[in-house]
Amino acid sequence: MAAGGLGTTSLLGMNRLVTASGELELTRFPHRPPDPLRAWDAADEYLLGHLAETGGPRGTVVVLGDRWGALTTALAGHRPVQISDSFLGRSATRENLLRAGHDPEAATLLTTRDAPPERVDTLLVRVPKSLALLEDQLHRLRPALHPGTAVVGAGMVKEIHTSTLRLFEEIVGPTRTSLAVKKARLVLAEPDPSRDPGPDPWPLVHTLPPDAGAVAGRTVVNHAGVFCADRLDIGTRFFLEHLPVQPDASRIVDLGCGNGVLGLAAALTHPDAEIVCTDESHQAVASAEETFAANGLAGRAVFTAADALGAVGPGSVDLILNNPPFHSHQATTDATAWRMFAEARRALAPGGELWVVGNRHLGYHVKLRRLFGNCSTVASNPKFVLLRAVRRGRRPPAR
Ligand SMILES: C[S@@+](CC[C@H](N)C(=O)[O-])C[C@H]1O[C@@H](n2cnc3c(N)ncnc32)[C@H](O)[C@@H]1O
Repeated sequence: MAAGGLGTTSLLGMNRLVTASGELELTRFPHRPPDPLRAWDAADEYLLGHLAETGGPRGTVVVLGDRWGALTTALAGHRPVQISDSFLGRSATRENLLRAGHDPEAATLLTTRDAPPERVDTLLVRVPKSLALLEDQLHRLRPALHPGTAVVGAGMVKEIHTSTLRLFEEIVGPTRTSLAVKKARLVLAEPDPSRDPGPDPWPLVHTLPPDAGAVAGRTVVNHAGVFCADRLDIGTRFFLEHLPVQPDASRIVDLGCGNGVLGLAAALTHPDAEIVCTDESHQAVASAEETFAANGLAGRAVFTAADALGAVGPGSVDLILNNPPFHSHQATTDATAWRMFAEARRALAPGGELWVVGNRHLGYHVKLRRLFGNCSTVASNPKFVLLRAVRRGRRPPAR
């Protein structure tokens, strides 16, 4: 299999993906030119080339795990159904579809928590970073597959492991891989309805350990792909040991909430505050919501999928708790942490505080001091620091 005459052109400094149906200008989300990171890679090109060589996708086309919408946009003529965990990925897809001149209805954009289509004739899988997410999503899609469904996965060689192929083999059916092209590989699986993969093991529910501070012994629900799904992260644990208690706080945000452990701790220690749990991962937001429900606190929080604090109004928050990500789709970057800190400054009321936990070497204090004009260390150990930055300004008198 070759990449089918597809590739990349650079025109006036803009990267374009060359597809069988034309050139596409694609961007990530949020788009901040000049973004050095492309919105597609050789695995997307390989998959599109393979489809062009084999007569194109047929019937109901589902694109699972499209990173920034390159596959969905290139295949918009087939009215694909995209299934994505990522708010950012879905937002990029919408923008890329519009930029390519497609109407917003050209693709159906579902989240990983939505019910998938009942019948799938072509399943295209952009292999996700999380093996757990792949396992869960293949389980959810399996009832919609039939012996005639073409199942094609794509990923960079470094993303496709023996364990990845085993999942396709066990959940879908006989699986083989292509030769590598430009360090990308395809996975070709033939659905076998007689195969019994057993039940979907997700979500994973566990009880927090006795040293988890305010949430010790509490139940946590983890949907597949959520950060540290099988145990309490050591950075989060450090945060819980030093959790702020601010009796006057009326609105507290768990920013990048994951399974909602920090938000849950805030809800338990601030019984009068409204809690907002927000994350760009739909699996995370669903986990946080179910974590609250499992602890009898369903009505205590608002749960939203958004980029950073995109769902939170300016000057409306008293306290923000944040354990920022330092990876974005395989790339190590602190761009998201920067965006979260800048957004926190906007969302905080005067006098409001942002508390951030991070590995010492990440140097978040430099960024926080630059943005807020102040930053103090609440606690530190050889691996982590817990930092506090205050939004300066006068707080309006209480009514
Ligand atoms: C290090 S994890 C922390 C999870 C949880 N707060 C904890 O301490 O266990 C970072 C979280 O940030 C989320 N995230 C990544 N990029 C984001 C963005 N642009 N906006 C909102 N959340 C994001 C990830 O999905 C992940 O759940």
